[in-house]
Amino acid sequence: MEPLVKDHYASNDLILKIKTGLAKAGKDMDSLKVKDLAPVDQLHTCGAPATVSLLEKANVTENHRILDAGCGIGGSSRLMAGTFGCQVTGIDLSPSFIEAAEILTRHIGLDRLASFRTGSILDLPFENDSFDGVLCQHVILNIKDKAGAIQEFSRVLKPGGKLILHEVTRGQGPSPALPVPWAATPDTSFLEPWETCEALMKGAGFSTEYFRDDTRAGLAWWEKIKAAAEKNRGKTYPLGVHLIFGKNASLFRETMPRNFRNNSICLVEAVLKKL
Ligand SMILES: C[S@@+](CC[C@H](N)C(=O)[O-])C[C@H]1O[C@@H](n2cnc3c(N)ncnc32)[C@H](O)[C@@H]1O
Repeated sequence: MEPLVKDHYASNDLILKIKTGLAKAGKDMDSLKVKDLAPVDQLHTCGAPATVSLLEKANVTENHRILDAGCGIGGSSRLMAGTFGCQVTGIDLSPSFIEAAEILTRHIGLDRLASFRTGSILDLPFENDSFDGVLCQHVILNIKDKAGAIQEFSRVLKPGGKLILHEVTRGQGPSPALPVPWAATPDTSFLEPWETCEALMKGAGFSTEYFRDDTRAGLAWWEKIKAAAEKNRGKTYPLGVHLIFGKNASLFRETMPRNFRNNSICLVEAVLKKL
């Protein structure tokens, strides 16, 4: 399964494309800010504000060491390091994402706090009890062996550590329309209902401290994106997730609102504690 997921996110010359986009947007690489990258580095529904509010609910502080599991190009890692001052390690299957994460983080000057590694969540290259928190944002949806992932999260978390989840889960409606950001074909989409995921986590020794169904906010967010695209039809943007997903990116604006509306998918956020 993992090679298929890796292929799904493979992107040639990604860092070059992002640097070119930044230059076209008038951004200077030497005075780059975290927010300048938001159009391209937030690979999840509801963007950076949702991440910050979730991290606040998990009480993340500068004393914490956090694993950003499935970090993409490091958007949330930089946000965490920049906003909360915590130490972050990002890990992702995709070498081109990790290369981009490292270069962008260096340009922003956050490399003292945030570092990155290529690797799999199913075989984390970290000692037991290494982290105070694991952020997992729109990643479990790509992982078939959810029990294996949860076991790894539990292993690397300290006792009392938090598993901070922001995930798309399966609703009761028809099969989701594709493509979606995490899958162009059914081969890389492994959505389960929240209840199934929560039962696995409870079985692995986690207890739920906070849960919110954010499906309505997810639908509203995608409807806003769709409306903005229709209003600005024909306009091209130098920076955006099209640099990663190519032509499919414009199709997400159709499939994602439809999937939320049809109850094919749900959006959840949760904080669970390792007992
Ligand atoms: C939808 S993106 C979300 C990226 C990031 N969390 C964000 O919100 O911006 C999913 C990411 O999970 C990564 N991923 C999927 N399965 C993984 C695994 N088994 N181990 C490590 N990373 C994985 C993918 O490579 C991809 O970067």
